[in-house]
Amino acid sequence: MEKRIDMKVPFPGPKTMEALKELEAFESRGDLCFANYGTPPVIEEADGLFVKDIDGNTFLDLTSGFAALNLGHCPKEVIAAIDKQMNKVHHTAQQPTKVRVDLAKKLVEIAPGKLKNNSKVQYDTGGTNAVEVGMKLAKAHTGRPYILCFHGAYHGRSFGTLTVSSFAFLKEGFFPLMEGAVRVPYPYCYRCPFGREQGSCGMFCLEYLENLLSDPTWGLIDRKKGTNLVAGILMEPAQGAGGYLIPPDGFWQGVRQLCDKYDILLIDDEIQMGWGRSGKYFAIENWDTYPDIMMVGKAFTAGTFPNAAIIARTDIMDTFQPVKQSVTFSGNPVGAAAALAMMEVLERDKLMANAVDVGGYFLEGLKELQRKHKLIGQVQGKALILSLEFVKDRTTKEPASEETMRIIREAVKRGLLLTISGHFGNRINIVAPLIITRSEADMGLTILDEVISLVEGCKDAAGCKCCAVS
Ligand SMILES: Cc1ncc(COP(=O)(O)O)c(C=O)c1O
Repeated sequence: MEKRIDMKVPFPGPKTMEALKELEAFESRGDLCFANYGTPPVIEEADGLFVKDIDGNTFLDLTSGFAALNLGHCPKEVIAAIDKQMNKVHHTAQQPTKVRVDLAKKLVEIAPGKLKNNSKVQYDTGGTNAVEVGMKLAKAHTGRPYILCFHGAYHGRSFGTLTVSSFAFLKEGFFPLMEGAVRVPYPYCYRCPFGREQGSCGMFCLEYLENLLSDPTWGLIDRKKGTNLVAGILMEPAQGAGGYLIPPDGFWQGVRQLCDKYDILLIDDEIQMGWGRSGKYFAIENWDTYPDIMMVGKAFTAGTFPNAAIIARTDIMDTFQPVKQSVTFSGNPVGAAAALAMMEVLERDKLMANAVDVGGYFLEGLKELQRKHKLIGQVQGKALILSLEFVKDRTTKEPASEETMRIIREAVKRGLLLTISGHFGNRINIVAPLIITRSEADMGLTILDEVISLVEGCKDAAGCKCCAVS
């Protein structure tokens, strides 16, 4: 497949429209991603950063399949490892395999901070399940009922993970959810929930958190014993669906200190940010801190095979009694072989260093766009955690949600795939695989520049043919 953007027919082409009609007729609407593009491309073939739709159009994919494709599309080494394992043994469940043990050993070896060489692994099949297990483990180990979670977080759509996620519309119709979740403000400093200014606020969000943990009136302290009732603080090192929101330096160190002071477990959801996207294996390592329980998924197998793991301090993991947490496909040998192959490529090709290099280059390009386009209120980046926030006015910061949607939809017509995100649907996450080159970053930046100019210059979107939302 040719590695360049090539729009052979105006998007959406006729075959795409026909396939989408059938898809709407036969598939549940619950899993369709039309919200992003209005009309998404129907993909037939993919390679690296490029995907080809059934009309023959080739797009640059800066979505990485919800951040699962850290090695890009169709990584040949991982596919070869899967192929080999498939033909040896592909499922056992009750009888262990050597490959899953090898993977557990590797995970314990690369785990961050105090988990390194002092942890055990529990396998599962996907991110949502892994977060469920992480929370269950924290509750079982501490015997306490509460999980603290952050405003703007996304952890999944099961009853438990929906509870600790924000995004109210996802919860509508499913109440009651899990009991015992307490939501706290996240340092979304561009829109500080306390109305403070970054740099001069003394990190008030940490003060607020400490107040919650220390003032008995909040109800998080056992009145008879004086001990706290919080099992764990559940975090994403940088919020994913929240808008690739990177917290200020010092925040996670501060949360870790509070966890130590109040004897609370830090539960790190690395499902979106892990596996090199931040320039390190696990994003939390960027803030010189470490969790007690950590969950990984998505890019664990480079997006080839559903697989997830919970890595927890040995004494914590040993809380689980035999068969307490077994599901049919956990520890699957094919998933294990894929994960080992993914890590081999990540290390061999120094892709975390590439994420820092090209991520830094991309960020500079985004900042250049920000200087040019008033519509861009904020740009954030750490390696390949890159995002933009669009506002109608830089002073009032009124979210430019409709404009953001039009930018996404104009970009797809020109062969660029992006992800919409954020509290107001006014952010774009740039989710590039770690194999991205500077010239691929340039391709993305050029189209972004073009479509932002188009939307910015369009005063009357409703009556305008150039960028009306279809
Ligand atoms: C931070 C985070 N946690 C958990 C999940 C849920 O993972 P999955 O969709 O694989 O179940 C996601 C998915 O986007 C995520 O971004």
